[in-house]
Amino acid sequence: MQFNLAVLPGDGIGPEVTDEAIKVLKAVGKGFGHSFDLHYGLLGGVAIDQEGTALPQDTFKMCKRSDAILLGAVGDPKYDDPQAEVHPEDGLLALRKALELFANLRPVKVYPPLVNNTNFKPEVIEGTDFIFVRELTGGLYFGRPKRRWQTSRGRRAIDSMSYSEQEIERIIKVGFELARGRLKKLISVDKANVLQSSRLWRQVAIEVSQDYPDVELEHMLVDACAMRIIQNPKYLDVLVTENTFGDILSDEASMLAGSMGMLASASLAGVPQEGANIFGLYEPIHGSAPRRAGQDIANPIATILSMAMMLRYSFGLIKEARTVESAVEAVLEDGYRTYDIMGEGKIKVGTKQMGDLIAGKVGG
Ligand code: IPM
Ligand code: MN
Repeated sequence: MQFNLAVLPGDGIGPEVTDEAIKVLKAVGKGFGHSFDLHYGLLGGVAIDQEGTALPQDTFKMCKRSDAILLGAVGDPKYDDPQAEVHPEDGLLALRKALELFANLRPVKVYPPLVNNTNFKPEVIEGTDFIFVRELTGGLYFGRPKRRWQTSRGRRAIDSMSYSEQEIERIIKVGFELARGRLKKLISVDKANVLQSSRLWRQVAIEVSQDYPDVELEHMLVDACAMRIIQNPKYLDVLVTENTFGDILSDEASMLAGSMGMLASASLAGVPQEGANIFGLYEPIHGSAPRRAGQDIANPIATILSMAMMLRYSFGLIKEARTVESAVEAVLEDGYRTYDIMGEGKIKVGTKQMGDLIAGKVGG
């Protein structure tokens, strides 16, 4: 089969990790007889540098024409100044919003070979395998009013955590659908003891649950959830939550897997279903890590696993996706590690070599 792919390497380590994911993708193409048409575009800091805007029109048009988007990372300390007019992150947020990529899936899986290479006791994290369904186009990130201004008594700023019932309903449904294909247990994470938006969230979750009598729904407050994630991660299976909560909890949870460099994500425009190809943007959850850039040390696994999610959800290539995931596991099993997941007696490799090893296992 033939697929159109938009590639947005972005900033910092983004281009390096993207290169490795493309390397592995090419091995998949060769091994399974698919061809991937790659179209590269600018997003983030590099786009501001070259085009004056974080999301150039050309990039947006190219993304719209593609079957899926693969993204490295955006963010550049050059634009961290709170006074700056434009931020690299604006490009990513605009893209998510404009393409209605409301469902962000973030699997948290502890790979057995890494069970002794994290900050946690092996017996606590062993067998951990859950997934966040993070709402991605609403909440504090996009709610209005959102501004900063000068008053007679000093400066003020406001962000709004706002949700419509439709926005909540469609993301809760994604949670239920995923739960149905897994352990039939959905945890909805909110702050309903304090926030109005969370009370509506919980109400809608209960309403939607009527359509899923086979799935057990549990509500968990976000602060308690933050604790449960590190106290007993094995208890978790599918968690659905709003944008900001999901952002924070997923960084926390990445430590279970050993490093942010291990966590993939898919941002989808619809409900994932076996056999249905959904438009999506695929990116690692980590940022651009500018201090690690250009040194061939960054861990490309999160981006490679994001590419595997693309094979699964946007291209319907399930066998191919599994092959990539098994290749990652096999390379870890063989003892190869980037610096962030290094352990005693293991073999330290750089970004490119990690990509080569995984591509080699895929067998291109
Ligand atoms: C993420 C990132 C983004 C977010 C940033 C880069 C805008 O942290 O994907 O988790 O906050 O959503
Ligand atoms: Mn984040």
